[in-house]
Amino acid sequence: MKIVIINGQNHKGSTYHIAHMLAGKINGDIKEFFLPRDFGEFCVGCTKCFMESEKKCPHYEKIKPLTAAMDEADVIILASPVYVYHVTGAMKAFLDHYGYRWMLQNLCLKSKEYAYLQLQAQV
Ligand SMILES: Cc1cc2nc3c(=O)[nH]c(=O)nc-3n(C[C@H](O)[C@H](O)[C@H](O)COP(=O)(O)O)c2cc1C
Repeated sequence: MKIVIINGQNHKGSTYHIAHMLAGKINGDIKEFFLPRDFGEFCVGCTKCFMESEKKCPHYEKIKPLTAAMDEADVIILASPVYVYHVTGAMKAFLDHYGYRWMLQNLCLKSKEYAYLQLQAQV
């Protein structure tokens, strides 16, 4: 079982540890990334991913290792602390780059298991 963890933060706090507890229960090979350390670009809204190909994204080469890891994984864990009622800015910027996949319902994501963790304090 291949597991990929995308941490929406660079540090190893509660979110990191809970993501690892979950991955530990699944018991597989873990590959993980930290945002924005491993990818920190903002989507520029050029729409080339929708209209032409994701390979035309100006950040294609930078995001490629993360995309490849997710495509290979059986389980994808997206983990983020809550920052002002939302995921971290780094996680949002990362997810924006996959709009073409969610919105066009790309078949390559249909066979995956997903876990989405958001940790907050109390609000
Ligand atoms: C900039 C910032 C914004 C936050 N905004 C919220 C919030 O809107 N609601 C909330 O309940 N907690 C908020 N928190 C608290 C964190 O979500 C919470 O402490 C979380 O468990 C931290 O996870 P970590 O240990 O992985 O950093 C915020 C923390 C920070 C640093």
